[in-house]
Formats: sequence, C-alpha cells, structure tokens
Amino acid sequence: MPSAADAAGAAGAVTDIRHAIDAAGGALRFDRFVSLALYGPHGFYTGEGRAGRRGDFLTSPEVGPLFGTVVAAWIAAEFERQGRPDDFEVVEVGAGPGTLARSILAQWRAAGEPGHPYTAVEAGELQRAAHPDGVHSAADLDHRDGRPITGVVIANELLDNLPFRLLVFDGSWREAHVTSSPGEPERLLEVLLPLAERPAWLPVEAPHGARVPWQESAAEWVTDTLGRLATGRLLCFDYVTPRTAELATMPWREWLRTYRGHERGGHYLTGPGDQDVTTQVALDQLPEPDVVRTQEQFLRRWGIDDLVEEGRIAWEAAAAAPTVAAMKMRSRVREAEALLDPTGLGAFLAIEWAR
Ligand SMILES: C[S@@+](CC[C@H](N)C(=O)[O-])C[C@H]1O[C@@H](n2cnc3c(N)ncnc32)[C@H](O)[C@@H]1O
Repeated sequence: MPSAADAAGAAGAVTDIRHAIDAAGGALRFDRFVSLALYGPHGFYTGEGRAGRRGDFLTSPEVGPLFGTVVAAWIAAEFERQGRPDDFEVVEVGAGPGTLARSILAQWRAAGEPGHPYTAVEAGELQRAAHPDGVHSAADLDHRDGRPITGVVIANELLDNLPFRLLVFDGSWREAHVTSSPGEPERLLEVLLPLAERPAWLPVEAPHGARVPWQESAAEWVTDTLGRLATGRLLCFDYVTPRTAELATMPWREWLRTYRGHERGGHYLTGPGDQDVTTQVALDQLPEPDVVRTQEQFLRRWGIDDLVEEGRIAWEAAAAAPTVAAMKMRSRVREAEALLDPTGLGAFLAIEWAR
C-alpha cells in the first residue's frame, strides 16, 4: 500500500506536470513528462531515493558482491590495456545507493590492491547520501568543469531510466504528449501529435497501435560521455533489444514497464512520482558500440566461473566450522545463478564503447 509520503509525492508530481503542461501550451512531450515523473521536484528518484531494486527481482549489483568482483576484473584489464596511466579513474553513473562501488572497493581491499579514484554519480540526493566512504559522490558529470576522464565509465541500468520520447503508429507515426482533462478529479491523458521528422531507425510501417520509444536522451548521454573520455571505455549493462522495429511488434507493456514497491506498477500516466518508468533500450538508436556481449558472456569472459569455483572450494574447506567469510564464498554459487540466468539478468547486454 502506498505510504502517506508516496501519496504526497504523487500529488506533488501531478501538480508539477500540470504546470509544465500549461507552460507547454496544453500538451507536454512524453520525455518531459517522464523527466518530471522520475527526476522532477517530486519525482520517483528525487523523493524517497529507492535503491536499485526493481519489482520482485534485483539489479545485478544488488544480487550480491560477485557482480562487482567481476567488474573489478574488467577494470583491472582495462587499466593494463590503457598502459597503466597515472590518472586512471573509475566513474560510475546512475550509481544508486553505491552498491556496485561498495563491491568494487571491497574487492580491491580483499586483493590488497590500491585501486583507483572512484566517482559515483547519482542524480538522487537521498541515494547519494548512502554512498560509501572512499568514493567521491557527485550529482552529475558537470562537477568536473570539463576535466576529461582517463579510465572507465560504468553504468548499470541507467540507459533504460533516461527520459524517452514515445511514438505511436495509427496509419502514420505520431508522437505521444501528455495533457490533463478538465473537471474533477483531474486526470492525465495522452494526446497524439504529428511527428515532424522520421528518424532512420523507425520502420515505415508498423501494426496499427504499435508503440516505440525514441531514446534521444540515452543516445545523447552516450555521445556526451564519450566526449568526456580522453582515453578509455564506457561500459553499460541494460536490458536491450537490437532493433527498434522489434519493439514495434511487441505488446508495449512488455517494453514500457513501470515498477512500484516490489511489483509491476500501473499505467504510466497514473501515479507519476510514485512509480518507476523504464523502457527496453533499442540498440540501433545508440552510437555504434565497439563490443556487445550478453551479460552472461561478459561475466564468463571476465572470470565468474573461476570465482564461483574458488567460492565452492573455500566453502567446502570451511564447511565443518563455517565462518562469515566462507558463507560469503558459498553465496557466489547462488549469485552466479541469478547473474547468468539466460531468461533474466544473464540476457542483459554489456555494451562497450572505446575512445
Ligand atoms: C535503475 S537505477 C540503477 C541503480 C544502480 N546502478 C543499480 O544497478 O542498482 C537508475 C539510477 O540512475 C539514476 N540516474 C538517472 N539519470 C541520471 C543521470 N543523468 N545522472 C546520474 N544518475 C542518474 C537514477 O536516479 C537511479 O538511481
């Protein structure tokens, strides 16, 4: 059941959106609606600062420390590949409460490594407050005053959460906007307006009623982030569909998902500020990547099987008198099952762009 704080947040977000609808002349473009619903003054991520938990499953870093341990192996390989630069650093964007950072720092400590400067960039203030000691916490990349990054930028489940435009096919492609109905109670409604230009990735024809996201912000974010990298790599994990045309043939509720509490949420226009709004990421809308692997392939490439085996051996050796450390090693088996699940997290993509 929504809390009183949730209800107040949702009412505040509706007011914010209504003002924006008025300011836009009566119809607010869908991505601006998502932006206010998630990141506005009463937005979902501004409000109670939820951790990276989604519905009844967890994001990969929230499954346990194993994901971060493998990403630390990828970082170590990148450090070598880039020739061990003195100014190598790790920047994580959309870091949530800092769970991935915590795991990577713990791995450096466990391996007796000095590690690298680590910046956790997170838009939500309450989530930033939970970041661990040892990381530099920031609200955005602009805190760097243009200083370029040498090293790696990582983002887990960020791209699906960046505000997206929404296109609908009803004989031709039109663009969804949000308006509000007169009268009480006031409701948010969708209105379709003509689309001025057809992006190259958009199929000419689609089933009547088909919907697709236009991930302009995600594409801009990748381009902008690559522009900030002097040398290095950007690595994003997310749920991805290769072509936008495939999304047009899917029931839209399968790719445009909402989450509230630990369950799937309601229609995207209901309860803004009170539920997460996410889209499957369309790979053909992003800048051309250098390496694309499934999460399963990525984790195996960077040593998850050896880490699980190491965990199994450590657990068996300590089974007669288990310690907390041994139990952590045993939990690698369960974590790996979730992270590699071909019907779940294992099917996510790990996308790399090099500079
Ligand atoms: C789905 S959560 C993922 C959190 C975490 N990476 C994980 O995997 O558990 C996405 C996070 O990205 C943050 N976010 C969205 N846009 C952002 C931006 N432009 N800069 C920094 N953080 C952003 C949101 O506030 C949210 O905490």
